[in-house]
Amino acid sequence: MSAKSGFVPLLRTLSVCSLLFAVAAEAQDDPFAEYREMMGDDNPAIFVIEEGAELWTKPQGPKQASLEQCDLGLGAGVVKGAYAQLPRYFDDTRQVMDLEGRLIHCMVSLQGRDRSDILRKPYSGTGDMGTELEALASYVADQSMGMPIATPQDHPAEKATYAMGKELFFYRAGPYDFSCATCHRQDEKRIRLQNLPNLTAHANAGEAYSSWPAYRISQGLVRTMGWRMQNCAKQQRLPQLLPGSEAVISLITYMSVNGSGTEMAAPGLKR
Ligand code: HEC
Repeated sequence: MSAKSGFVPLLRTLSVCSLLFAVAAEAQDDPFAEYREMMGDDNPAIFVIEEGAELWTKPQGPKQASLEQCDLGLGAGVVKGAYAQLPRYFDDTRQVMDLEGRLIHCMVSLQGRDRSDILRKPYSGTGDMGTELEALASYVADQSMGMPIATPQDHPAEKATYAMGKELFFYRAGPYDFSCATCHRQDEKRIRLQNLPNLTAHANAGEAYSSWPAYRISQGLVRTMGWRMQNCAKQQRLPQLLPGSEAVISLITYMSVNGSGTEMAAPGLKR
């Protein structure tokens, strides 16, 4: 990422932001809240969760192994509650990893699959039927439903990852000199009909973090937190963020720790 500073980008940021926030100031009711209420517990993500459960036990790759021995942080094969305690430090890779990064690691190490193959298309395009990573993330997240977010901050690497996430969150870069904070630091902001959560604040961060992965009604697909990061980086005109990359894991850690204690409610339901 290259930072640009100076008067022109600042002016641009100010003018784009005042435009965004002028619209934002007109508080309207969330039209999707009504939809969510109507759907109740009937989140179409249920089918994606089932698909993920099948993929978890399906032998695949050159080693014809399933993911059942994958250690998501609570021991090999333990899925229940694992998502609520991610991202975390893993001894075997000596890295802090998030769910998507860890799933990819398990596909490579247990199944013998090629990382670059997986990274070629981790997320669905418009009109696609959903990818393996989306299904697996939905399945694992669902197994933490109702549990409090408890991303550990004990290991020095976990603390360093949070600190890096915070730095990235406030780091202004790209042609508009935006940071995540430009759009996500204030309360009660909107762009058009979309809420812009204040991800630096506990309540908003918890609400946002606990609802991903999420079924997007407008796209008919489950989207993961890694996809959300890619999509927001795109709005920020940054280079593409890869799933499982240090930047994504740091940003996710920053948000999960800020939202610590909030009950997991993923897969959520979004517009
Ligand atoms: C130009 C403004 C903008 C920037 C910059 C931006 N976002 Fe976003 N972000 C949005 C919008 C708009 C949405 C809501 C999208 C929607 O509902 O479709 C959103 C949604 C989100 C959500 C989901 C919130 C929820 O409640 O579901 C997260 C998490 C998030 N952004 C994180 C980030 C991070 C981290 C960065 C920096 C890498 C970032 N955003 C940069 C505009 C932005």
